[in-house]
Parts: sequence; C-alpha cells; structure tokens
Amino acid sequence: MHKSVYDIIKMKKDGKKISAITSYDYTLASLCDKSGIDILLVGDSAGMVMLGYENTIPVTMEQMCMFTEAVSRARKNALLVADLPFMSYQASIEDAIKNSGRLIKAGADAIKLEGGVSMSETISAIVDIGIPVMGHIGLQPQTTMLSEGYKVQGRTKETAIKLIEDAKELEEAGVFSIVLEMTSHEVAQIISETVSVPIIGIGSGVGCNGQVLVVQDLLGMFEKIKPKFAKRYLNLSEDIVKALENYKKDVEIGMFPAKENWFSMDDEEFKKLREQIGS
Ligand code: KIV
Repeated sequence: MHKSVYDIIKMKKDGKKISAITSYDYTLASLCDKSGIDILLVGDSAGMVMLGYENTIPVTMEQMCMFTEAVSRARKNALLVADLPFMSYQASIEDAIKNSGRLIKAGADAIKLEGGVSMSETISAIVDIGIPVMGHIGLQPQTTMLSEGYKVQGRTKETAIKLIEDAKELEEAGVFSIVLEMTSHEVAQIISETVSVPIIGIGSGVGCNGQVLVVQDLLGMFEKIKPKFAKRYLNLSEDIVKALENYKKDVEIGMFPAKENWFSMDDEEFKKLREQIGS
C-alpha cells in the first residue's frame, strides 16, 4: 500500500523529515519510488525539463495528465501529487474542481496549486469535494515569471509577514501540506513552527519539515538552469554524453553489435538456405 496524505501529516507530528522529488516518466519514477522517497511530485517543471519550454506557463492539462498517468504506473510506495498548470484553476472554482478531478483520474492522490490568500476559497472548494490539496507559496513560478522573475521571497519584515499570513490561510483552507519555494530560511523556519501542516521547502533552508527537488537537478541531467539551492548528487549528463560517444565510435568501427548482441539461425536451417539460394 502506498503512502497517504495522513502518513505525510503524521511524519511532521512524529518529528520525521519528509523527502519529495519530481517525477514525470515511468522509468525514472520507478527508480525514485524504489528509493523510498515519500512523495513523487508531477510538477509543472515538466514544461522545462521534459518539454524544453522557457518556463511553466505553456504547460497544458493534457500534458500534466499524460505525465501523471506514466508516474502512476510506476508508483508503488510514495504519495503521488500532481500540479495544476497555469490557467487550469485561476479563472473559476469550477475549472479548479474539474481539472483537479482530471489529475485524480489520471492517478494522482492529491493536487498542488500555487497561491496564498487569494487562492483560499478555491482550495476550500477542492478540499470540500474530497480532493487533498498541497499549497505552494513563496516563489510562484506560474505568476512571478510574468513580473519579478526568479527572486528570493520573504527577505524583508513586510514580505515575511505576508508569507506567514499566506501559510496560515492555506492551513485554514484545508491543505495537507505546503511547498515553500525560495524564501529566506528565517521565515521558512517560522512558518514550519507556526502551522500544523508539513512545510516542504525548495531553496528555503533546513528548518522546513521536508525538502523537494527537481530530479534532473539532483542527478545533474539538466544543463540549462543550475539553481544554487539544488545539490547535485550525480553528474549524469557527463556520463550520458560519454556513453553515447562510445556507442557512436563502436558503431563506426564495427565493434557494436558484437556476437552476444545478435541472433543466429539454426545451423541446419542456415545450410538449407545456402543450398537453396546457391551461395
Ligand atoms: O513544478 C515543480 O517542480 C514544483 C517544485 C519546484 C516544487 O512545483
């Protein structure tokens, strides 16, 4: 049986740190799940790391459903959370409920959406119909990209207070946890101690109740952006390019395929074939 939102809430109560990682495809999601990581997040960062967009704005519901279906086929242990993409929930509560339902039908256990106080009514409505919601405050890529760009949040007293209010409002609206992206570590620590639901940080310091990273950043596979907050545990892009160069060389010099990589006819059958075609 895979983890539930209640298991994640209990981890905070028991003082256990929560690990989360993004996943978008079957192969990598199988490995992420096997590692025992608590939450697989089908993030709309898929737009950049899987589809090559500049930001998350072009991502569609169809794309998010396809990624969610692939990850759900791989998932055995972790909780599966999927992102509502830009403009799939902002225009109306009806849109938000309908599109949350689509992600649940695609295999997610819960959905995530960006926004603080302004999204609390929408969040309550989704929670009321029985769909668990993960909030997302601090840097909100779907909208901050339209104005200030990537910028650390909550560095002044005023902005820190606004973040604390957002977190409290989301808790009140019924979220089971909150992603806190790229805030000062001081405000992240205060929010983690103030609200009862788990705070999952990304670039928000060690005081959060858990951490989330984009899997390509952790594995060193994404060259375009290298965020300061993402620790690289591998340098896979180098290894992958090296392996592909070796493959190309082997093909060119006839070292691949070798005997162990091909299939043979039965000797008798081959003899008969040669007799028939006269070679
Ligand atoms: O889309 C995503 O990957 C996310 C994480 C950065 C939390 O929302």
